[in-house]
Amino acid sequence: MRASSSRNAQGGQGVRGDILAKCQNYGRNLGGQFVRPCDAQAAGLYVYFHTFTGHDGCPPGEIWMGDRRILMFGCNDYLDLTNHPKVKEAAAAAIRRYGTGSSGSRLLNGTLDLHVRAEAELAALVRKEDAMTFGTGFQTNYAALAGVTEKGDVLVCDHNLHASLVDGALRSPARIVRFRHNDMDHLAACLESCAPDEKVLIVTESVFSMEGDTADLAGTAGLARRYQARVFVDEAHGIGVFGPGGGGLAEELGVLDGMDIIMGTFSKSLASVGGFVASTRPVIEYLKHTARPFVFSASLPPASVAAVLAALEVMRAEPERRQRMHRVARHLRQELRARGYWVLDGETPIVPIVVPDAIALFRLCSCLLDEGVYANPVMRPAAKHNLLRISVTAAHDESHVARLLEALDVVMRRLEIPVSACAAD
Ligand SMILES: Cc1ncc(COP(=O)(O)O)c(C=O)c1O
Repeated sequence: MRASSSRNAQGGQGVRGDILAKCQNYGRNLGGQFVRPCDAQAAGLYVYFHTFTGHDGCPPGEIWMGDRRILMFGCNDYLDLTNHPKVKEAAAAAIRRYGTGSSGSRLLNGTLDLHVRAEAELAALVRKEDAMTFGTGFQTNYAALAGVTEKGDVLVCDHNLHASLVDGALRSPARIVRFRHNDMDHLAACLESCAPDEKVLIVTESVFSMEGDTADLAGTAGLARRYQARVFVDEAHGIGVFGPGGGGLAEELGVLDGMDIIMGTFSKSLASVGGFVASTRPVIEYLKHTARPFVFSASLPPASVAAVLAALEVMRAEPERRQRMHRVARHLRQELRARGYWVLDGETPIVPIVVPDAIALFRLCSCLLDEGVYANPVMRPAAKHNLLRISVTAAHDESHVARLLEALDVVMRRLEIPVSACAAD
């Protein structure tokens, strides 16, 4: 569209800019250097939107990229269930019985018996009275935070929340206060500063998605009791990963009762897409009528819900998957540290190596892929440091870790990046 002479809002004559002009030359400042995606692509350093082509005939932990088999260390399918025969058959059977879509909001024609069953099972998983499902995990957080709050409320949020929680908080009419990441003293100070007539919801993640560290949920629950606040916890990376029943970190720590609203997503351990919140019956009933993305969006398709139900069944029946994932993640952390890498603290399947220089991180990811290994780059400000974010799943064993370490060694040498460039001071 060309800029044209037009009347502006004040009634004057002027040249109006093109709202889409910014799309022509955009980029980001990375480590003091302006990088446009097109320049990164031209330099062979663009690390996004790689296309994978399926799992047919691939050994566990690998995926096709055209005619190359790639060792996948960037996927959040923690229990390795997206290709489990029972999960795939459940999804296929649901398509045969119900068709491919629900074509309607849950409120109207979009509720299937599958949704009702899944919600009952998810509520039981985290020992709450009731649960409701949403189209994505992102939508779940966005809808729930905005839907449960009103003017005069306060959301007291950990500093490192996922974008879906940040956006949900911004959409909410509540006042937002942020406490320093996982800092219970600062959380207490923030709660102390809320006025007595303000109603307060503390918002945190159980496992922080980028850095893989865990929240002090017991401390959070204690402070909530002391200051008469409620707690919303995002267990996106906790469900399936922690707890004797896979109910998440709150289950593992024995603090489920202290979590008033528990959120989970289906795109990680539960081998599907979608999300849920679980709480008391009145809270869920309330959200069913106030959470706009629930009311005004079509319900999850049958295959996605059937996959979740089957994944829950396999998760209960095969706890060894969770155990294997933790064992391999521990082994990987030890091996990386022994080689001098700066691995952030944590006991989760998210194993982040700090790579301070953004361009070095891009190069590392590209060259790793040339060596047949995929891991995710995480750029500031999504995390405090630039990270090579490795995620371990139940598909991996020690031989995969050995291949990853070998590829890392080769690439670091080729790029002449000393390990000390990725080491804590
Ligand atoms: C902590 C956290 N919450 C919510 C989400 C959104 O979940 P989904 O990708 O299933 O929409 C994610 C996704 O990465 C996440 O890491």
